[in-house]
This record gives sequence, C-alpha cells and structure tokens, in this order.
Amino acid sequence: MSTHASSTREIPVHGNLPRHIAMIMDGNGRWARQRHLPRFAGHKRGVESVRAVVKACAQLGVEYLTLFAFSSENWRRPPDEVALLMQLLHGALSNEVEKLHRNGIRLKLVGDTQRFGPKIRTLIDRGEALTANNTGLTLTIAANYGGRWDILQALSKLLRERPDVALGPIQEEAVAPYLAMSYAPEPDLFIRTGGEQRVSNFLLWQLAYTELYFTDTLWPDFDANALQAAIESYRQRERRYGRTSEQLGGGAASGSEPATGAVA
Ligand code: IPE
Ligand code: IPE
Ligand code: MG
Repeated sequence: MSTHASSTREIPVHGNLPRHIAMIMDGNGRWARQRHLPRFAGHKRGVESVRAVVKACAQLGVEYLTLFAFSSENWRRPPDEVALLMQLLHGALSNEVEKLHRNGIRLKLVGDTQRFGPKIRTLIDRGEALTANNTGLTLTIAANYGGRWDILQALSKLLRERPDVALGPIQEEAVAPYLAMSYAPEPDLFIRTGGEQRVSNFLLWQLAYTELYFTDTLWPDFDANALQAAIESYRQRERRYGRTSEQLGGGAASGSEPATGAVA
C-alpha cells in the first residue's frame, strides 16, 4: 500500500505551500543561442539554477522537489550533446552529494538507470545510500525517466510479484506502490520553464491533479524569485479534485479542507 493519498481515490490534504514541486527545466539551448554560445554553455549554466532552486526549496520547507534532468527521449539528441549531459550528471553526482548531505537533503534518482554507465550507476547508489536517512528536503532527479516507462515498469513488477491481480480489475492501490516515486506524495505544483506548454512524458500518472505553471523564463535564468512567483500563482488556485467550488465553502487556497477520506 502506498502511504500517500491518491488524488483520484481521496482528497489529499494540502496547504498554502506545495509539499511537492516537480519541474521541467527547459530552455538551456535557447538561453545559449541567444548569447551565441554553444548549447553546452546553457546546460552548464543550468546547473547553477539547480543549486539555487534546491536551496530555495529547502529554506522554504518544501518537502519534495523533483527535477526532470534527462528524458527517455533525450537520447535522440546529437551524440555529443548526450555525452555532455552525461558528463554533467556525473559531475553533479561526484561534486554535489556531500553538500546535499551536509544540508540534510535526501537524494533520489528515478528513471531507467540501467542505461547509464557503471560509473554513474555507482555514484547514484552511493549518493542515495549516503543521504537515505536525511529528513530535510527530498530531492529527486529524474534521469532517463519517462512517464510511460514508469507505468509499464510498475505493471511489470506488480504482475511478476502478484500474478493473481491479473484475474480481476487492477486497482490503483495495487499499482501505485510500484511506481518509481511511490515514496512521495503526488506533486502539488508542476513548473515548466522555457515557454513550452506540454508535459513531455514526465510524471504522467502522478500529475493527475497537479496544478500546472508555465513560464517563458529560460531555465538558466530561473532563480528563487521566479520560484516565489510560481508558488504565488499556486496559492491562487482552487483545488477542487472534481468537486464544485460551493462544496469547498468558497475562497481559493483554503488550505486543508475537511473532506471525506482525507488523508494526511
Ligand atoms: C533542457 O534544455 C535540458 C534538457 C532537456 C536536458 P533544452 O536543452 O531542452 O533547451 P531548449 O529547449 O533547446 O532551449
Ligand atoms: C523535457 O525537455 C525534458 C527535460 C527537461 C529533461 P525537452 O526539451 O526534451 O522537451 P521537448 O522535446 O521540447 O518536448
Ligand atoms: Mg527543450
């Protein structure tokens, strides 16, 4: 059983601050092109935005931050760009993990990590093990992640372990524990930088009732103030989960409303 509320099976409790923010960090290439720099320069600069956003979320008391670093479709990019992105991932895992640990941050990676080389896989295992018991922000990096991959790997594992479930209708509660991010509540707020308004195969299952926020700001320009603006927008939303506004007693961002089956 998943320990977190399902947005389709109950009304998750939510407050003024998103517990879980999921972000598509997009626009590195365009940031570089605007400056007549190679795309690489945008990716390198993007790492600084990651540092700034992790710090800001930790200070604000956000519980979960999930960053889309490399999609299952990003292998389609030119080989030299893919190699540079792998180098950046390797560099971040070797240089930043100690600092995350000192700050009480728990690191997780989700995605099909089998596709990465042994060096990166070892660093992932070490980083996750080192920070496993930290109780601050949970930082999840989605790398070689795809929402469809996630749903399919969950179903495969479920049916392998519990072949009996195939006999009846498969319940949400049976699948959810096998999803890559079963340790986290569903995202409250999704942020995509770079101006595109699409989900690009990110957390398809988990975004069912997530508030979506799109900004034209390119990822290397995204900072703590830009994050604040997104959270401000989130605070104006009325999260109805299928109900009517009247049922909520009016007023947006009413915090944790008592609802049948509410689960913390
Ligand atoms: C996001 O920036 C980084 C990754 C997808 C790894 P992009 O590289 O997609 O930048 P644009 O969209 O081309 O500007
Ligand atoms: C989404 O960005 C993936 C990441 C940010 C890692 P893309 O730049 O790959 O998305 P599309 O191709 O524009 O949809
Ligand atoms: Mg892009």
